[in-house]
Amino acid sequence: MSETLASPAQNVLEMIGNTPMLKVNNMDTGPCELFLKLENQNPGGSIKDRMALEMVEAAERDGKLKPGGTILEATAGNTGLGLALVASQKGYKCILVIPDKMSEDKIFHLRALGAECIITRSDVSKGHPDYYADMVARMAKEIPNSFHVDQFSNPANPYAHETTTAPEIWEQMGGKVDAVVAGVGSGGTITGLARFFNKVSPGTEIILADPEGSVLAEAVKTGTPATEVGSWVVEGIGEDYIPDNYEIKTTTKAYTIDDSEALAVVRELLIKEGIIAGSSSGTLIGAALRYCREQTTPKRVVTFVADTGNKYLSKIFNDYWLRDQGFIERKSTGDLMDIISRRHSEHAVVTCLPTDTIEIAFGRLKLYGISQLPVLSDKGDLAGLIGERHIIKATAGIKGSFSLPVADAMDSTPPTVPLSTSPGEVVEILKEGTAVLVNDADGFHGLITRVDMINYISRS
Ligand SMILES: Cc1ncc(COP(=O)(O)O)c(C=O)c1O
Repeated sequence: MSETLASPAQNVLEMIGNTPMLKVNNMDTGPCELFLKLENQNPGGSIKDRMALEMVEAAERDGKLKPGGTILEATAGNTGLGLALVASQKGYKCILVIPDKMSEDKIFHLRALGAECIITRSDVSKGHPDYYADMVARMAKEIPNSFHVDQFSNPANPYAHETTTAPEIWEQMGGKVDAVVAGVGSGGTITGLARFFNKVSPGTEIILADPEGSVLAEAVKTGTPATEVGSWVVEGIGEDYIPDNYEIKTTTKAYTIDDSEALAVVRELLIKEGIIAGSSSGTLIGAALRYCREQTTPKRVVTFVADTGNKYLSKIFNDYWLRDQGFIERKSTGDLMDIISRRHSEHAVVTCLPTDTIEIAFGRLKLYGISQLPVLSDKGDLAGLIGERHIIKATAGIKGSFSLPVADAMDSTPPTVPLSTSPGEVVEILKEGTAVLVNDADGFHGLITRVDMINYISRS
């Protein structure tokens, strides 16, 4: 436990910054010491709170944001959370344009903070009318008394990190920092760090951690951004162009980290260090670990837990999602087991009994966000399948029907195949039916839905 407690903050915005630093203890850092600045502990949950506050206060000072005004931004999520938090405390309206690859949980959080969220396509680039940054620039012209924050070129963004993040690191590390590792979304963090360290400690290396698919690492290494842009799952970092706020010449080295490495690092961090971090922190810490392990002399290295992993529980901390995306490899069994995402032998299938009420079956469908359940007898034998369409048929216009047994509503002869069936035969059944039950002399193995099959096809 720390020895001193600060006196109460008078407003949540005062709690932005002054985040703690944690030394990595149980991961392999080679001859180096690696430290994590826990930006997840900002009130909005990420490193972006700092610049959101600075950009709004700079706009107030410059007269660009007046009482009753609207804050507008194109954001991948965390900047939006920071802005929505600042807007709610200062009484501004906040409208955010968000690409559709962002985690739904972030959007729920933004809306709950009172922000208006407009979701747009993530598969288009700069210059396309649906590109999130172009869309918001257009809206800024149309909405009166609005302030377009533009984190990608707003000078208050790197300034926030130059004047708060970087000096905090310097102080916490007792003035001994050999390298800092950061990602680039807008470039604010890395540019702010570089400006500060170039002044107080020019020997400190400024290192970019870039997701595979982003064009930035190549630009650091060769001076020219990669011509091919890929896609990546980690959120908040990586770009298809060099943002104005990224002073790329100050970056001394770059690492490209692919999604599977980033997600493995995030999970290792939780198990070994007890910190639940967001996906991009895996890219950052993955790059920092590589740098540390490459060194031949001891160095003191700092990187960030840029946001909290609580926002990604249903993705990066969900084995089924990881498997569906191909991030966790399961040993192939060479039969339909390769396609069943939730195996009965692993107690992973949600089922019900024929004697359960329809209400119980329906409750399970809603709870797990699924559309059908295998029905198994109390001995574990397959008895049927109950889905939304069976429940509609059995209940519409019939009073008290939700207390009827599942046996009255289920399909007792659903499409069923043995484990040895070929995937092609299952595909044929799924062209008409919504699910196939896999059951043979060895018992019930699981359910193959259309989504399971599509995931299998896309993986292979
Ligand atoms: C989730 C997340 N957001 C933002 C950043 C940095 O973004 P920016 O370049 O906009 O400061 C990072 C990494 O440093 C990050 O991991």
